[in-house]
Amino acid sequence: MKIITVSSLKGGVGKTTLSIYLGQAIAKLYPKSKILKIDLDHNNNLTDYYLRNESVELIEGNSIAKYLTGAKHLESILTPTSLENIFIIPATPKLSKTAVGLSWDAGLISRFRKHLRNLKFDYIIIDTPPALCLELNLGIHAADLVLSPIGFSRWNIQGFQEIEEVVINSNESLENGKIKILPVRTMVSEKKSDKLDELDLSFAKTFIPKSESIASAVDQGKPLTEKNSFYFEQLAEEIK
Ligand SMILES: Nc1ncnc2c1ncn2[C@@H]1O[C@H](COP(=O)(O)OP(=O)(O)O)[C@@H](O)[C@H]1O
Ligand SMILES: [Mg+2]
Repeated sequence: MKIITVSSLKGGVGKTTLSIYLGQAIAKLYPKSKILKIDLDHNNNLTDYYLRNESVELIEGNSIAKYLTGAKHLESILTPTSLENIFIIPATPKLSKTAVGLSWDAGLISRFRKHLRNLKFDYIIIDTPPALCLELNLGIHAADLVLSPIGFSRWNIQGFQEIEEVVINSNESLENGKIKILPVRTMVSEKKSDKLDELDLSFAKTFIPKSESIASAVDQGKPLTEKNSFYFEQLAEEIK
């Protein structure tokens, strides 16, 4: 099993888009693999992509908040999507308030890492909110690999360093199996991706281009065109 968490302190850099289409790319490259997506962001765009036709009641009943509060086991909230090998544990906007109330639970972060590893999936992909909060810590601490999307903004290094620090702190308490972190250039033109390359960061070789077609696919809950899904497949190959 490999657990990949997508994190950035900036919103709108393509975290959710990466969480969605990287999973789809993995499903295409490895058709036998079982994939779980977990939405740890109260903005719940990942949930909306996969469960836009499901009722609020079903989503609330299966939401990650139910696990975090101890009301349900992870196994009982695995929700099928319209894609055969992809399941999701959804989130609702209530997650944020639930998480604030859980600061007393000192064991939660390490328990989550352990419980995820007991599930029968080949890949788990976790989407996180753009803020230093419990949900971000849960996602990062559970990961084998943190992918951090970086767009073309002068704040990108600072934002990345904050995420890197969370990874470093988490690794201090992990005995074995350290968490790796990889910055990924997202929503950039070829020219700007070259400019980002001048920064002192070891980016993934693959970058996700800025594309109206990617934007409209993700906003409408649709799959990508073959051409665009190729970028995510390249990234999937790179991190396998
Ligand atoms: N590669 C891309 N090129 C252009 N627009 C994109 C791309 N990926 C995502 N978008 C647009 O940007 C918005 C924010 O992307 P999203 O993945 O939701 O970011 P985040 O999760 O980091 O907030 C999406 O609604 C989509 O319309
Ligand atoms: Mg998002």
